[in-house]
Amino acid sequence: MRTKILLEESEIPTHWYNVVADMPNPPAPPMGPDGKPVGPDALQAIFPDNIIEQEISAERWIPIPEEVRNILTLWRPSPLYRAHRLEQALGTPAKIYYKNESASPAGSHKPNTAVAQAYYNKVAGIKRLSTETGAGQWGCSLALAGQLFGIDVRVYMVKVSYEQKPYRRSMMQTWGAEVYASPTDMTESGRKILAEHPDSPGSLGIAISEAAEEAANRKDTNYSLGSVLNHVLLHQTVIGQEAKKQLALVGDYPDEIYAPCGGGSNFGGIAFPFFADKAAGKNVRLVAVEPTSCPTLTKGPYAYDYGDAIGLTPLLKMHTLGHDFVPPGIHAGGLRYHGDSPLVSQLHHEGLVDAVAIPQLETFEAGVLFASTEGIVPAPESTHAIAAAVRSARECAKSGEPRTILFNLSGHGHFDMSAYDRYFNNELEDYEFPEEAIEESLSHLPEVLRNS
Ligand SMILES: Cc1ncc(COP(=O)(O)O)c(C=O)c1O
Repeated sequence: MRTKILLEESEIPTHWYNVVADMPNPPAPPMGPDGKPVGPDALQAIFPDNIIEQEISAERWIPIPEEVRNILTLWRPSPLYRAHRLEQALGTPAKIYYKNESASPAGSHKPNTAVAQAYYNKVAGIKRLSTETGAGQWGCSLALAGQLFGIDVRVYMVKVSYEQKPYRRSMMQTWGAEVYASPTDMTESGRKILAEHPDSPGSLGIAISEAAEEAANRKDTNYSLGSVLNHVLLHQTVIGQEAKKQLALVGDYPDEIYAPCGGGSNFGGIAFPFFADKAAGKNVRLVAVEPTSCPTLTKGPYAYDYGDAIGLTPLLKMHTLGHDFVPPGIHAGGLRYHGDSPLVSQLHHEGLVDAVAIPQLETFEAGVLFASTEGIVPAPESTHAIAAAVRSARECAKSGEPRTILFNLSGHGHFDMSAYDRYFNNELEDYEFPEEAIEESLSHLPEVLRNS
Protein backbone atom coordinates (compact mmCIF):
# COMPACT_ATOMS: atom_id res chain seq x y z
CA MET A 1 0.00 0.00 0.00
CA ARG A 2 1.85 3.09 -1.24
CA THR A 3 0.99 6.38 0.51
CA LYS A 4 3.47 9.01 -0.72
CA ILE A 5 4.53 9.43 -4.32
CA LEU A 6 7.76 11.42 -4.38
CA LEU A 7 9.91 13.01 -7.06
CA GLU A 8 13.62 13.90 -6.99
CA GLU A 9 14.71 17.54 -6.66
CA SER A 10 16.02 17.35 -10.20
CA GLU A 11 12.42 16.73 -11.31
CA ILE A 12 11.19 20.18 -10.22
CA PRO A 13 9.73 21.58 -13.47
CA THR A 14 12.15 23.62 -15.54
CA HIS A 15 9.37 25.72 -17.12
CA TRP A 16 6.06 27.24 -16.10
CA TYR A 17 3.07 26.28 -18.24
CA ASN A 18 1.06 29.15 -19.72
CA VAL A 19 -2.58 28.13 -20.24
CA VAL A 20 -3.15 31.08 -22.58
CA ALA A 21 -1.45 29.04 -25.33
CA ASP A 22 -4.21 26.40 -25.15
CA MET A 23 -7.27 28.59 -24.53
CA PRO A 24 -9.81 28.60 -27.36
CA ASN A 25 -10.01 32.42 -27.24
CA PRO A 26 -7.38 35.02 -26.30
CA PRO A 27 -7.78 36.53 -22.81
CA ALA A 28 -10.10 39.56 -22.60
CA PRO A 29 -7.80 42.62 -22.30
CA PRO A 30 -7.70 44.81 -19.17
CA MET A 31 -9.56 48.10 -19.73
CA GLY A 32 -9.40 51.65 -18.46
CA PRO A 33 -12.52 53.23 -16.91
CA ASP A 34 -13.12 54.89 -20.30
CA GLY A 35 -13.75 51.47 -21.86
CA LYS A 36 -10.48 51.43 -23.85
CA PRO A 37 -7.92 48.61 -23.50
CA VAL A 38 -4.94 49.58 -21.35
CA GLY A 39 -1.44 48.73 -22.47
CA PRO A 40 1.35 47.20 -20.37
CA ASP A 41 2.59 50.73 -19.53
CA ALA A 42 -0.41 51.12 -17.17
CA LEU A 43 1.21 48.47 -14.97
CA GLN A 44 4.70 49.95 -14.96
CA ALA A 45 4.12 52.13 -11.90
CA ILE A 46 3.77 49.04 -9.71
CA PHE A 47 5.28 46.01 -11.52
CA PRO A 48 8.71 45.40 -13.09
CA ASP A 49 8.91 44.85 -16.87
CA ASN A 50 9.96 41.20 -16.58
CA ILE A 51 6.72 40.41 -14.69
CA ILE A 52 4.58 42.50 -17.08
CA GLU A 53 6.06 40.45 -19.95
CA GLN A 54 4.82 37.26 -18.27
CA GLU A 55 1.44 38.85 -17.55
CA ILE A 56 0.75 39.35 -21.26
CA SER A 57 2.68 36.39 -22.69
CA ALA A 58 1.04 33.77 -24.90
CA GLU A 59 4.14 31.52 -24.97
CA ARG A 60 3.24 27.98 -23.84
CA TRP A 61 6.41 27.39 -21.81
CA ILE A 62 8.33 30.02 -19.81
CA PRO A 63 11.69 29.01 -18.29
CA ILE A 64 12.04 29.09 -14.50
CA PRO A 65 15.25 30.96 -13.56
CA GLU A 66 17.85 28.76 -11.84
CA GLU A 67 17.90 31.11 -8.77
CA VAL A 68 14.16 30.48 -8.32
CA ARG A 69 14.43 26.70 -8.84
CA ASN A 70 17.23 26.60 -6.25
CA ILE A 71 14.96 28.15 -3.62
CA LEU A 72 12.04 25.93 -4.63
CA THR A 73 14.17 22.92 -3.58
CA LEU A 74 13.51 23.98 0.04
CA TRP A 75 10.04 22.39 -0.27
CA ARG A 76 9.61 21.10 -3.82
CA PRO A 77 8.74 18.72 -5.33
CA SER A 78 5.83 18.53 -2.91
CA PRO A 79 4.56 15.04 -2.08
CA LEU A 80 1.47 13.53 -3.69
CA TYR A 81 -0.48 11.34 -1.27
CA ARG A 82 -2.97 8.56 -1.82
CA ALA A 83 -5.59 9.15 0.90
CA HIS A 84 -6.11 5.47 1.76
CA ARG A 85 -7.44 6.16 5.24
CA LEU A 86 -9.90 8.80 4.09
CA GLU A 87 -11.12 6.40 1.37
CA GLN A 88 -11.63 3.66 3.99
CA ALA A 89 -13.52 6.00 6.32
CA LEU A 90 -15.84 6.95 3.45
CA GLY A 91 -16.26 3.32 2.31
CA THR A 92 -15.77 4.52 -1.26
CA PRO A 93 -14.49 2.71 -4.34
CA ALA A 94 -13.06 6.08 -5.47
CA LYS A 95 -9.29 6.61 -5.38
CA ILE A 96 -8.46 9.91 -3.68
CA TYR A 97 -5.11 11.64 -4.20
CA TYR A 98 -3.98 14.97 -2.78
CA LYS A 99 -1.05 17.22 -3.54
CA ASN A 100 0.41 18.46 -0.27
CA GLU A 101 1.31 22.13 -0.70
CA SER A 102 1.27 22.62 3.08
CA ALA A 103 4.87 21.37 3.15
CA SER A 104 6.34 24.80 2.27
CA PRO A 105 7.90 27.04 5.00
CA ALA A 106 4.85 29.35 5.04
CA GLY A 107 2.50 26.37 5.04
CA SER A 108 0.84 26.73 1.63
CA HIS A 109 1.30 27.03 -2.13
CA LYS A 110 1.87 30.80 -1.91
CA PRO A 111 5.71 30.78 -1.73
CA ASN A 112 5.81 29.22 -5.25
CA THR A 113 5.02 32.65 -6.71
CA ALA A 114 6.40 34.82 -3.88
CA VAL A 115 9.93 33.59 -4.64
CA ALA A 116 9.52 34.23 -8.36
CA GLN A 117 8.07 37.73 -7.82
CA ALA A 118 10.76 38.74 -5.31
CA TYR A 119 13.42 37.46 -7.72
CA TYR A 120 12.11 39.47 -10.70
CA ASN A 121 11.80 42.62 -8.56
CA LYS A 122 15.34 42.12 -7.27
CA VAL A 123 16.64 41.79 -10.83
CA ALA A 124 14.79 45.03 -11.68
CA GLY A 125 16.56 46.83 -8.81
CA ILE A 126 13.53 47.18 -6.52
CA LYS A 127 14.24 47.54 -2.78
CA ARG A 128 10.74 47.41 -1.26
CA LEU A 129 7.51 45.51 -1.91
CA SER A 130 4.02 46.24 -0.59
CA THR A 131 1.26 43.68 -0.56
CA GLU A 132 -2.05 42.56 0.95
CA THR A 133 -2.83 39.37 2.80
CA GLY A 134 -6.09 37.70 3.77
CA ALA A 135 -5.35 34.35 5.34
CA GLY A 136 -1.84 35.50 6.24
CA GLN A 137 -0.35 32.76 4.06
CA TRP A 138 0.51 35.17 1.26
CA GLY A 139 1.97 37.82 3.57
CA CYS A 140 4.18 35.17 5.18
CA SER A 141 5.26 33.89 1.78
CA LEU A 142 6.29 37.29 0.48
CA ALA A 143 7.99 38.13 3.79
CA LEU A 144 10.06 34.94 3.43
CA ALA A 145 10.86 35.61 -0.22
CA GLY A 146 11.78 39.23 0.57
CA GLN A 147 14.10 38.01 3.30
CA LEU A 148 15.81 35.56 0.94
CA PHE A 149 16.39 38.24 -1.73
CA GLY A 150 17.13 41.19 0.60
CA ILE A 151 13.94 43.16 -0.19
CA ASP A 152 11.90 44.99 2.49
CA VAL A 153 8.25 43.96 2.66
CA ARG A 154 5.21 45.80 4.03
CA VAL A 155 1.97 43.83 4.44
CA TYR A 156 -1.58 45.19 4.73
CA MET A 157 -3.38 42.36 6.51
CA VAL A 158 -7.20 42.22 6.36
CA LYS A 159 -8.31 43.32 9.84
CA VAL A 160 -10.56 40.34 10.59
CA SER A 161 -7.67 37.95 9.81
CA TYR A 162 -5.20 40.11 11.78
CA GLU A 163 -7.43 39.61 14.81
CA GLN A 164 -8.19 35.92 14.14
CA LYS A 165 -4.53 34.99 13.55
CA PRO A 166 -2.05 37.03 15.63
CA TYR A 167 0.72 34.45 15.12
CA ARG A 168 0.60 34.87 11.36
CA ARG A 169 1.65 38.46 12.07
CA SER A 170 4.52 37.24 14.28
CA MET A 171 5.61 34.86 11.55
CA MET A 172 5.76 37.69 9.00
CA GLN A 173 7.78 39.74 11.50
CA THR A 174 10.12 36.78 12.01
CA TRP A 175 10.84 36.99 8.30
CA GLY A 176 11.46 40.73 8.62
CA ALA A 177 8.18 42.20 7.30
CA GLU A 178 6.14 45.13 8.67
CA VAL A 179 2.45 44.26 9.15
CA TYR A 180 -0.59 46.56 9.54
CA ALA A 181 -4.27 45.77 10.04
CA SER A 182 -6.20 47.00 6.97
CA PRO A 183 -8.02 49.36 6.61
CA THR A 184 -5.30 51.62 8.07
CA ASP A 185 -5.19 55.40 8.36
CA MET A 186 -1.84 55.37 6.53
CA THR A 187 -3.28 55.49 2.98
CA GLU A 188 -5.94 57.56 1.29
CA SER A 189 -7.80 54.36 0.39
CA GLY A 190 -7.82 53.19 4.02
CA ARG A 191 -8.93 56.59 5.33
CA LYS A 192 -11.79 56.68 2.80
CA ILE A 193 -13.08 53.27 3.93
CA LEU A 194 -12.70 54.16 7.63
CA ALA A 195 -14.61 57.42 7.16
CA GLU A 196 -17.56 55.49 5.72
CA HIS A 197 -17.23 52.29 7.81
CA PRO A 198 -15.21 52.88 11.01
CA ASP A 199 -15.75 49.22 12.06
CA SER A 200 -14.88 47.72 8.68
CA PRO A 201 -13.53 44.14 9.09
CA GLY A 202 -11.50 44.81 5.96
CA SER A 203 -11.44 42.76 2.78
CA LEU A 204 -8.86 41.63 0.27
CA GLY A 205 -10.15 44.31 -2.12
CA ILE A 206 -9.50 47.06 0.45
CA ALA A 207 -6.05 45.73 1.40
CA ILE A 208 -5.12 45.57 -2.30
CA SER A 209 -6.12 49.25 -2.67
CA GLU A 210 -3.86 50.24 0.22
CA ALA A 211 -0.85 48.24 -0.98
CA ALA A 212 -1.22 49.28 -4.64
CA GLU A 213 -1.64 52.96 -3.64
CA GLU A 214 1.57 52.84 -1.63
CA ALA A 215 3.50 51.26 -4.51
CA ALA A 216 2.15 53.77 -7.02
CA ASN A 217 3.24 56.66 -4.77
CA ARG A 218 6.78 55.48 -3.99
CA LYS A 219 9.56 55.13 -6.55
CA ASP A 220 11.48 52.58 -4.50
CA THR A 221 8.44 50.34 -3.98
CA ASN A 222 6.62 47.87 -6.21
CA TYR A 223 3.43 45.99 -5.56
CA SER A 224 3.19 42.23 -5.38
CA LEU A 225 -0.08 40.31 -5.65
CA GLY A 226 -0.63 36.81 -4.22
CA SER A 227 -3.28 35.69 -6.70
CA VAL A 228 -5.66 36.67 -9.52
CA LEU A 229 -3.19 37.91 -12.17
CA ASN A 230 -1.93 35.73 -15.03
CA HIS A 231 1.72 35.67 -13.90
CA VAL A 232 0.74 34.47 -10.43
CA LEU A 233 -1.23 31.51 -11.80
CA LEU A 234 1.66 30.82 -14.19
CA HIS A 235 4.11 30.47 -11.28
CA GLN A 236 1.79 28.02 -9.53
CA THR A 237 1.73 25.57 -12.45
CA VAL A 238 4.65 23.68 -10.91
CA ILE A 239 1.93 22.03 -8.76
CA GLY A 240 -0.04 20.46 -11.58
CA GLN A 241 3.03 19.52 -13.60
CA GLU A 242 4.47 17.60 -10.65
CA ALA A 243 1.10 15.98 -9.86
CA LYS A 244 0.81 14.69 -13.42
CA LYS A 245 4.25 13.10 -13.23
CA GLN A 246 3.51 11.60 -9.82
CA LEU A 247 0.20 10.08 -10.94
CA ALA A 248 1.90 8.66 -14.04
CA LEU A 249 4.39 6.88 -11.73
CA VAL A 250 1.48 4.88 -10.29
CA GLY A 251 -0.29 4.54 -13.65
CA ASP A 252 -3.19 6.86 -12.77
CA TYR A 253 -4.92 9.92 -14.22
CA PRO A 254 -7.66 11.96 -12.49
CA ASP A 255 -11.29 12.02 -13.60
CA GLU A 256 -11.78 15.18 -11.58
CA ILE A 257 -9.63 17.79 -9.83
CA TYR A 258 -10.73 20.03 -6.95
CA ALA A 259 -9.02 23.08 -5.49
CA PRO A 260 -10.20 25.89 -3.24
CA CYS A 261 -10.66 29.10 -5.20
CA GLY A 262 -10.16 32.61 -3.83
CA GLY A 263 -8.33 34.52 -6.55
CA GLY A 264 -7.72 31.29 -8.46
CA SER A 265 -3.97 30.75 -8.05
CA ASN A 266 -3.82 27.29 -6.48
CA PHE A 267 -6.74 26.15 -8.62
CA GLY A 268 -4.98 27.35 -11.78
CA GLY A 269 -1.73 25.90 -10.45
CA ILE A 270 -3.02 22.37 -10.14
CA ALA A 271 -5.65 22.44 -12.91
CA PHE A 272 -4.03 24.25 -15.84
CA PRO A 273 -1.38 21.62 -16.68
CA PHE A 274 -4.29 19.15 -16.96
CA PHE A 275 -6.23 21.70 -19.05
CA ALA A 276 -3.55 21.22 -21.69
CA ASP A 277 -4.73 17.57 -21.96
CA LYS A 278 -8.37 18.62 -21.87
CA ALA A 279 -7.75 21.01 -24.76
CA ALA A 280 -6.27 18.03 -26.63
CA GLY A 281 -9.46 16.00 -26.07
CA LYS A 282 -8.88 14.26 -22.73
CA ASN A 283 -11.85 13.96 -20.37
CA VAL A 284 -10.95 15.59 -17.05
CA ARG A 285 -13.24 17.75 -14.88
CA LEU A 286 -11.62 20.81 -13.32
CA VAL A 287 -13.63 22.11 -10.37
CA ALA A 288 -12.98 25.34 -8.44
CA VAL A 289 -14.48 25.27 -4.93
CA GLU A 290 -15.62 28.47 -3.23
CA PRO A 291 -17.58 29.43 -0.09
CA THR A 292 -21.35 30.00 -0.36
CA SER A 293 -20.78 33.32 1.45
CA CYS A 294 -18.52 34.62 -1.34
CA PRO A 295 -19.82 32.75 -4.43
CA THR A 296 -17.91 34.57 -7.14
CA LEU A 297 -17.85 31.96 -9.91
CA THR A 298 -21.18 30.33 -9.10
CA LYS A 299 -23.28 33.50 -8.60
CA GLY A 300 -21.28 36.50 -9.83
CA PRO A 301 -21.79 37.86 -13.36
CA TYR A 302 -18.89 37.76 -15.84
CA ALA A 303 -18.18 41.46 -16.26
CA TYR A 304 -15.49 44.12 -16.21
CA ASP A 305 -14.73 45.26 -12.66
CA TYR A 306 -11.92 46.68 -10.56
CA GLY A 307 -9.52 44.28 -8.86
CA ASP A 308 -9.54 46.39 -5.67
CA ALA A 309 -12.21 48.04 -3.52
CA ILE A 310 -11.41 51.66 -4.30
CA GLY A 311 -10.97 51.36 -8.08
CA LEU A 312 -7.23 51.96 -8.51
CA THR A 313 -6.50 48.94 -10.73
CA PRO A 314 -7.35 48.55 -14.41
CA LEU A 315 -10.69 46.85 -15.06
CA LEU A 316 -10.43 43.10 -15.39
CA LYS A 317 -13.00 40.88 -17.09
CA MET A 318 -13.89 38.34 -14.44
CA HIS A 319 -16.65 36.82 -12.41
CA THR A 320 -17.30 39.41 -9.71
CA LEU A 321 -19.58 40.19 -6.81
CA GLY A 322 -18.79 43.91 -7.16
CA HIS A 323 -15.54 45.56 -6.08
CA ASP A 324 -16.99 47.06 -2.91
CA PHE A 325 -18.63 43.82 -1.72
CA VAL A 326 -17.28 42.97 1.75
CA PRO A 327 -17.85 39.23 2.31
CA PRO A 328 -18.94 37.90 5.73
CA GLY A 329 -16.02 37.21 8.11
CA ILE A 330 -15.73 33.48 7.41
CA HIS A 331 -12.57 31.75 8.58
CA ALA A 332 -11.37 30.92 5.08
CA GLY A 333 -9.88 34.43 4.82
CA GLY A 334 -8.09 33.59 1.57
CA LEU A 335 -11.44 32.95 -0.14
CA ARG A 336 -12.93 36.35 0.78
CA TYR A 337 -12.26 38.06 -2.57
CA HIS A 338 -14.96 39.77 -4.64
CA GLY A 339 -13.48 38.78 -7.99
CA ASP A 340 -11.49 35.93 -9.49
CA SER A 341 -8.65 35.30 -11.87
CA PRO A 342 -9.57 36.55 -15.38
CA LEU A 343 -8.14 33.31 -16.85
CA VAL A 344 -10.18 31.05 -14.55
CA SER A 345 -13.24 33.29 -15.07
CA GLN A 346 -12.99 33.14 -18.86
CA LEU A 347 -12.56 29.36 -18.87
CA HIS A 348 -15.52 29.03 -16.51
CA HIS A 349 -17.61 31.36 -18.66
CA GLU A 350 -16.77 29.21 -21.70
CA GLY A 351 -17.86 26.05 -19.87
CA LEU A 352 -14.36 24.53 -19.68
CA VAL A 353 -13.95 24.83 -15.91
CA ASP A 354 -16.64 23.98 -13.31
CA ALA A 355 -17.32 25.57 -9.94
CA VAL A 356 -19.17 24.60 -6.79
CA ALA A 357 -19.93 26.57 -3.61
CA ILE A 358 -19.90 24.89 -0.18
CA PRO A 359 -21.15 26.23 3.18
CA GLN A 360 -18.73 26.83 6.06
CA LEU A 361 -19.92 24.06 8.41
CA GLU A 362 -19.65 21.34 5.77
CA THR A 363 -16.08 22.44 5.04
CA PHE A 364 -15.05 22.21 8.70
CA GLU A 365 -16.74 18.80 9.03
CA ALA A 366 -14.67 17.60 6.05
CA GLY A 367 -11.52 19.21 7.52
CA VAL A 368 -11.92 17.34 10.80
CA LEU A 369 -12.61 14.06 8.96
CA PHE A 370 -9.45 14.62 6.89
CA ALA A 371 -7.34 15.44 9.98
CA SER A 372 -8.61 12.39 11.82
CA THR A 373 -7.85 10.02 8.92
CA GLU A 374 -4.86 11.54 7.09
CA GLY A 375 -3.32 13.39 10.04
CA ILE A 376 -2.78 16.85 8.57
CA VAL A 377 -4.93 19.69 9.97
CA PRO A 378 -5.98 21.55 6.81
CA ALA A 379 -6.30 25.31 6.31
CA PRO A 380 -9.94 26.47 6.25
CA GLU A 381 -9.46 27.37 2.57
CA SER A 382 -8.24 23.86 1.76
CA THR A 383 -11.20 22.25 3.55
CA HIS A 384 -13.34 23.52 0.68
CA ALA A 385 -11.53 21.22 -1.76
CA ILE A 386 -11.66 18.37 0.74
CA ALA A 387 -15.42 18.81 1.21
CA ALA A 388 -15.99 18.71 -2.56
CA ALA A 389 -13.80 15.60 -2.89
CA VAL A 390 -15.70 13.98 -0.01
CA ARG A 391 -19.04 14.75 -1.70
CA SER A 392 -17.81 13.07 -4.88
CA ALA A 393 -16.36 10.05 -3.04
CA ARG A 394 -19.67 9.59 -1.20
CA GLU A 395 -21.51 9.59 -4.55
CA CYS A 396 -19.12 6.84 -5.65
CA ALA A 397 -19.88 4.88 -2.47
CA LYS A 398 -23.55 4.93 -3.49
CA SER A 399 -23.13 4.26 -7.21
CA GLY A 400 -20.10 1.95 -7.05
CA GLU A 401 -18.26 4.12 -9.59
CA PRO A 402 -14.48 3.98 -9.06
CA ARG A 403 -13.61 7.63 -9.90
CA THR A 404 -10.06 8.88 -9.53
CA ILE A 405 -10.16 12.14 -7.58
CA LEU A 406 -7.30 14.60 -7.13
CA PHE A 407 -7.45 17.63 -4.87
CA ASN A 408 -5.04 20.30 -3.81
CA LEU A 409 -4.29 20.51 -0.11
CA SER A 410 -3.33 24.14 -0.53
CA GLY A 411 -2.20 24.68 3.07
CA HIS A 412 -2.18 23.55 6.68
CA GLY A 413 -4.29 25.12 9.40
CA HIS A 414 -1.77 25.41 12.25
CA PHE A 415 -2.51 29.10 12.59
CA ASP A 416 -6.25 28.59 12.24
CA MET A 417 -6.92 26.67 15.43
CA SER A 418 -9.14 29.44 16.81
CA ALA A 419 -11.46 28.71 13.87
CA TYR A 420 -11.43 25.00 14.75
CA ASP A 421 -12.10 25.95 18.40
CA ARG A 422 -15.14 27.93 17.34
CA TYR A 423 -16.31 24.99 15.21
CA PHE A 424 -15.99 22.59 18.16
CA ASN A 425 -17.88 25.05 20.41
CA ASN A 426 -20.71 25.25 17.84
CA GLU A 427 -20.01 28.96 17.38
CA LEU A 428 -19.53 28.84 13.61
CA GLU A 429 -22.43 29.56 11.33
CA ASP A 430 -23.39 29.02 7.72
CA TYR A 431 -23.87 32.42 6.17
CA GLU A 432 -26.82 32.75 3.86
CA PHE A 433 -25.97 33.85 0.35
CA PRO A 434 -25.66 37.63 1.00
CA GLU A 435 -27.98 38.47 -1.89
CA GLU A 436 -28.87 42.04 -0.95
CA ALA A 437 -25.28 43.10 -0.24
CA ILE A 438 -24.15 41.59 -3.55
CA GLU A 439 -26.98 43.24 -5.49
CA GLU A 440 -26.03 46.55 -3.94
CA SER A 441 -22.35 46.23 -4.84
CA LEU A 442 -23.14 44.94 -8.35
CA SER A 443 -25.05 48.15 -8.93
CA HIS A 444 -21.65 49.89 -8.62
CA LEU A 445 -20.01 47.99 -11.50
CA PRO A 446 -18.26 50.45 -13.83
CA GLU A 447 -21.07 51.88 -15.96
CA VAL A 448 -19.22 52.18 -19.24
CA LEU A 449 -18.46 48.46 -19.41
CA ARG A 450 -21.57 47.08 -17.69
CA ASN A 451 -22.78 45.18 -20.78
CA SER A 452 -19.53 44.33 -22.53
C1 LIG B 1 -4.20 27.92 2.16
C2 LIG B 1 -4.84 28.73 1.10
N1 LIG B 1 -5.57 28.11 0.16
C3 LIG B 1 -6.20 28.80 -0.83
C4 LIG B 1 -6.13 30.18 -0.87
C5 LIG B 1 -6.89 30.92 -1.92
O1 LIG B 1 -6.11 31.63 -2.81
P1 LIG B 1 -5.94 31.23 -4.32
O2 LIG B 1 -7.32 31.08 -4.89
O3 LIG B 1 -5.19 32.33 -4.93
O4 LIG B 1 -5.19 29.96 -4.35
C6 LIG B 1 -5.38 30.88 0.09
C7 LIG B 1 -5.27 32.36 0.04
O5 LIG B 1 -4.80 33.02 0.89
C8 LIG B 1 -4.73 30.13 1.10
O6 LIG B 1 -3.99 30.75 2.04
